[in-house]
Amino acid sequence: MKVIPIYSLRLLLTLNLVVLLVYCILTLTCDNEKQIKKLKKEVSYLQDIIDGENEKSVNEELLPTIYAITPTYARWTQKADLTRLSQTLLHVKNFHWIVVEDADRKTLLVTKFLSNCGLKYTHLNAKTDQNFKLKDSDPNWLMPRGVAQRNTGLTWIRNNISPQTEGYLYFMDDDNTYDLQLFKEIRTTQLASAWPVGLSGGLKFEGPGFCKDGKVLSWYTAWKPERPFPIDMAGFAVNIKLLFQYKEAGFSNATPRGYLESHFLTGLHLTINDMEAKANQCTDILVWHTRTEKAKMKQEDKLIKLGKPSNPNIEV
Ligand code: UGA
Ligand code: MN
Repeated sequence: MKVIPIYSLRLLLTLNLVVLLVYCILTLTCDNEKQIKKLKKEVSYLQDIIDGENEKSVNEELLPTIYAITPTYARWTQKADLTRLSQTLLHVKNFHWIVVEDADRKTLLVTKFLSNCGLKYTHLNAKTDQNFKLKDSDPNWLMPRGVAQRNTGLTWIRNNISPQTEGYLYFMDDDNTYDLQLFKEIRTTQLASAWPVGLSGGLKFEGPGFCKDGKVLSWYTAWKPERPFPIDMAGFAVNIKLLFQYKEAGFSNATPRGYLESHFLTGLHLTINDMEAKANQCTDILVWHTRTEKAKMKQEDKLIKLGKPSNPNIEV
């Protein structure tokens, strides 16, 4: 039998040990790297949650209330529009909805709707003067809309909120589309702020055109550019302290077409120089001037004439 020399055995053993050592070092460092990567991921995930919570508590829980005035009037699509709007608003904290019906008295539909909507609200009514009320056949630009209702909302704020209260005023029409980010932007307003409104003024957007360092420097508009504020009602917010400072500021039916916003903002003694630029230096669209198509009820009318009306207990 051939005898393996002892030195060869030693060499083999040493080689084995070296291989094992190298293997151990390699797997250990690999595992460590993997572990570190995994931990880093977890830390960044947790940081995101903390940031999100901070943002929520800073922007929504602790900052002052947004008072939004919404004029609304009876038509087939009213409940649908109010439902869509209210379900956006349910995501907004510290929000007080002032809904003003264009009616002689509060309707059952809006009363029931508001009591079930889950929002903090005030329900008011103010009928538009008959001389300024649009007829069904009129083009909608013929008369200013929402004038009496917004004034009633402003009076309610002036009479029911203490002038020392910190808060923001925003006019919300019932048929626009609002991004939740907008409400965070509104809550950074010092005196007055503005941002572009999508699908407004016959343009992709209308309102602030060029903004720099948080200031509005020019307007982007095509129609009546000489207006002091060529901007849609949905394109600005103001600190409510201005309402107590300038008690006469409001809306008028005598205002020429397109001047409602300018009339109100100049009544608060504001100029373009006061307007803080929001929405990423006014380059993001966070609200759209959408309009709900008028419901066509030809078939419903036909059935009524035929004496086969739909169930009157079903509210649409
Ligand atoms: C545009 C602006 O976005 C409005 O803020 C502005 O009041 C209006 O023009 C105007 O120039 O008067 P637009 O979509 O054309 O809005 O108007 P609507 O949405 O039909 O009306 C604005 C608000 O007033 C809505 O909340 C609507 O429900 C309310 N409204 C309308 C009434 O309360 N009564 C009416 O007879 C009509
Ligand atoms: Mn509208």
